[in-house]
Amino acid sequence: MAMLAEARMMTSHPFTRLAHPAPVAASVRTAALADPGFGKLFSDHMVTIGWTAGLGWHDATIGPRGPLTLDPAAAVLHYAQEIFEGLKAYRREDGTITLFRPQANAARFNASARRLAMPEMPEELFIEAIRQIVRADREWFPDVEGGSLYLRPFMFASEAFLGVRPAKEYKFLVIASPAGNYFKSGAPAISIWVSEDYTRAAPGGTGAAKCGGNYAASLVPMAEAIAHGHDQVVFLDAAERKFIEELGGMNLFFVFADGTLITPPLGGTILPGITRDSLLSLAADEGLAVREERYSLDQWRADAASGRLTETFACGTAAVVTAIGTVAGHDAAFTIGSGGPGQLTQRLREHLVAIQRGRAPDPHGWVMPVA
Ligand code: PLP
Ligand code: COI
Repeated sequence: MAMLAEARMMTSHPFTRLAHPAPVAASVRTAALADPGFGKLFSDHMVTIGWTAGLGWHDATIGPRGPLTLDPAAAVLHYAQEIFEGLKAYRREDGTITLFRPQANAARFNASARRLAMPEMPEELFIEAIRQIVRADREWFPDVEGGSLYLRPFMFASEAFLGVRPAKEYKFLVIASPAGNYFKSGAPAISIWVSEDYTRAAPGGTGAAKCGGNYAASLVPMAEAIAHGHDQVVFLDAAERKFIEELGGMNLFFVFADGTLITPPLGGTILPGITRDSLLSLAADEGLAVREERYSLDQWRADAASGRLTETFACGTAAVVTAIGTVAGHDAAFTIGSGGPGQLTQRLREHLVAIQRGRAPDPHGWVMPVA
């Protein structure tokens, strides 16, 4: 069945394979993979697929990674019609390569595409593109603690046209970046800065879409966080500047002494994280009370002080599950619990990672072997 489905898919969108004239030498690659960090190292290959009005998706290629040629009038360079995804591939000891919920990334990619007036991509083509690069770059998995191959599918408007309307030509690419820890320090708990001067997303805006513009807008508040000595920025809701939304690239969970968990509700201004959704399921599986509910900065500070709140953690593909130890803003500064990672944070992290890496049962069918 699986092979038949694959053959059919391949017929509808055959991939042309371009040989790599000069892949990175094994010794250079091995040295680089010893300390991959996050987002600074890239594999040998990339996938490219074109889309034009009329033709639809065409010319799927897996080939050498290299610079792109773009017309200076390409719409993305002017009006930022661009979306992306982020997911990790894991290599097991027996050599099998797996993905975690790639269908959810495909669905979110298409939701982002709809919001940015871009063409949607069939889920099987999105996943086949990922399968192609993972197979081509199977030597690029770092053998370090927490190591994975981070995959970055993205799409942008390539049409040369300066009128403001949805472009008629797009490029879809997938690049791969061997990854270790997202946070340089590999810190057990991070410190975050509350952005009181800038918001991330307003109702009716693009907060629920994974578009590059959201991240461009987060750079100044992020720089402010770093200038104040913090690792990340947390955003408040744009309407009342009261309720916690999310970090620049991670969702948030609050853990209470009575075992309850709260995470801010999705409602258009928050990215619907796949890690967030997975942790909601794992916590419910454990019998914990989980609520998607608005939670204010004032309440957070008061609950941390009273001990009602014991832990807070951030979660996302890149950062996995990371404890938040301290929070500061212009007039809020407080420590959560002991300032280090709490027990539930660690347990949920370990459970999620064990499922992702095939070391624990996968009752929800989240893991997909691809090579
Ligand atoms: N929120 C934002 C703004 C993000 O960029 C990300 C990362 O993709 C997340 C949350 C977490 O989403 P996921 O768990 O799907 O990686
Ligand atoms: C991810 O977790 O995949 C992200 O996209 C977060 C950040 C690197 C943008």
